[in-house]
Amino acid sequence: MSLTVSGSQASTIDSVLAPDSPEALSISLPADRNQLAEQIKLRRIVVLGPPGGGKGTLADALAADLGICHLSTGDVLRAEVKSGSALGKSLKEIMDRGELVPFQIVVDIVVNRLQQPDCAKGYLLDGSPRRVAEAEALEKRLAEKHISTEIAIDLQVPDSDIQARLEGRRLCPKCGAIYHVSFKKPRVDGKCDLDGTALIQRSDDNASVIAERLKVYHQETAPVSGFYESRGLRTAINARGSASEVEALVLKILWRPDVFGF
Ligand code: AP5
Repeated sequence: MSLTVSGSQASTIDSVLAPDSPEALSISLPADRNQLAEQIKLRRIVVLGPPGGGKGTLADALAADLGICHLSTGDVLRAEVKSGSALGKSLKEIMDRGELVPFQIVVDIVVNRLQQPDCAKGYLLDGSPRRVAEAEALEKRLAEKHISTEIAIDLQVPDSDIQARLEGRRLCPKCGAIYHVSFKKPRVDGKCDLDGTALIQRSDDNASVIAERLKVYHQETAPVSGFYESRGLRTAINARGSASEVEALVLKILWRPDVFGF
């Protein structure tokens, strides 16, 4: 199945903040990452972007660098599916079609998780919110707990890049590490670098489900960007560069938001 390939979408993305933007090039990150972690100003972070936009890759790297928690709602829902519960069985049917699960389930999971002690220094929320109604409900609940989102990083990647990213993705079923057959190869083919477990492919990473996920993203999730924009919390970035370039740009924004007019 072919995906929408839009030249105008790619050129719009090429005009947003990128790793080689003048503001980004004007900043040199401290070599000492512990020192950097202490000085980071924005710590309650929502990561937005299309399926395969690099949300999990970015959030994993930032959580390790900053010592804050990473909550992937997709991972939480897949764990429920794996448990074999009745809820998991109904979630699997929805996820295997590339559709969204009812948001009330997700908001409860997220709010409970973000109040755990390992999230006290901040959080990276990846995969939620995915609808404006979910964003409204989530931010209301987070505000009541005094842990509102401080910044929404919106990863911009054109649809034309997504299929290659997702069809080539491989995951460690034990520790969740994310690889790619071309862009992030494991040291030993098919094995996790961290624990040697055989890598797997996600059941929704096939062409027809990817096309449906992208359709759902554009119809239901992309408007969430407007929700955060209207609150002055959204920063869109060009995420077509390498994963390390994208991470360095985001660290600069979190460290020196003033330079980026934030
Ligand atoms: P979820 O697991 O959240 O999937 P997704 O949003 O489709 O996002 P992905 O995990 O596929 O991609 P990603 O952006 O994290 O990319 P990654 O870093 O892995 O959700 C799955 C399903 O759960 C949904 O379809 C829905 O049914 C349900 N769900 C979840 N949350 C929900 C919610 N809140 N409400 C309702 N339903 C919900 O990168 C992808 C690949 O690209 C990797 O191989 C990686 O190595 C590579 N890569 C990453 N960055 C780069 C780069 N810069 N350059 C080159 N390659 C890169």
